[in-house]
Amino acid sequence: MTHIRKAVFPVAGMGTRFLPATKSVPKEMITLVDRPLIQYAVDEARDAGVEEFIFVSAAGKGALEDYFDTAAALETRLQAAGKTEALAALDCTRMAEGALTLLRQSQPLGLGHAVRQARKLIGDEAFAVILPDDVIKSEKGALAQMVEVHRELGGHMVATMDVPRSDISKYGVLDVASEQGRVSRALGLIEKPRADLAPSTKAVIGRYILDRSIFDQLDNLGPGAGGELQLTDAINADVSTVGVHGFTFDGQRFDCGSVQGYVQATTAFAMDRADLQSEYAAFLNEKRQPFRLVA
Ligand code: G1P
Repeated sequence: MTHIRKAVFPVAGMGTRFLPATKSVPKEMITLVDRPLIQYAVDEARDAGVEEFIFVSAAGKGALEDYFDTAAALETRLQAAGKTEALAALDCTRMAEGALTLLRQSQPLGLGHAVRQARKLIGDEAFAVILPDDVIKSEKGALAQMVEVHRELGGHMVATMDVPRSDISKYGVLDVASEQGRVSRALGLIEKPRADLAPSTKAVIGRYILDRSIFDQLDNLGPGAGGELQLTDAINADVSTVGVHGFTFDGQRFDCGSVQGYVQATTAFAMDRADLQSEYAAFLNEKRQPFRLVA
């Protein structure tokens, strides 16, 4: 049995890097192979034992609600046409009664502010946060890997990945006290440091298991990097009390908040699909080298 029953999904972001698509489609609905990014995030949470899904959303994100709702007309038509395979493809979009809650983040004040919206729904237990932009391809889900280790360690836990120093300013970064296997104990965390000031190259990736103490820290938080309320700063404030560990997950992470990461993820996930891989590999490997670099 898992001890992490609830997960928060911050889905209020505008996704400007995906304009014009995100003019009318929430970025979490952008499709990797044949399912939207949010589906990968929800599947990973389910795989870790999560039963309650809290979306911190914003105006213009209605497609996310519809996606996890029953599509009565569509299902009736598929049923009547005997399209059982197409019907079965909808199974992953079904939510148990009351399992999905949508909250509005009325102002874009940062990730810390988004997570704070879930305080009442979380109550007194440790919970997960999943950023759907970070898609992790792995045998065992990254969050499930973390849940297992968190059971022993408690406190706050963040997913980590070693990145080149030239990229470190895009991330929350760990000041590492000690490292044992995949687990590092943090002395502190800093959001988007200058590369030359970063305490390490261990970057925070968008998976968190947080103690409920985080909400008190979020209440006391002032604006951090970029003038936003940063989750990283709230976690940092708990380093000497509840404790913070980084967990370097087994898997490949794609930054699907960027177009480059997204197209790479598309290829990686397509190549993993038995029904697509051979034809797609033949296309990519075509001897004629049909790809030309733009001058
Ligand atoms: C957020 C977090 C940052 C983390 C990153 C991972 O930043 O604030 O600490 O390293 O996600 O993707 P964002 O990418 O939203 O700027």
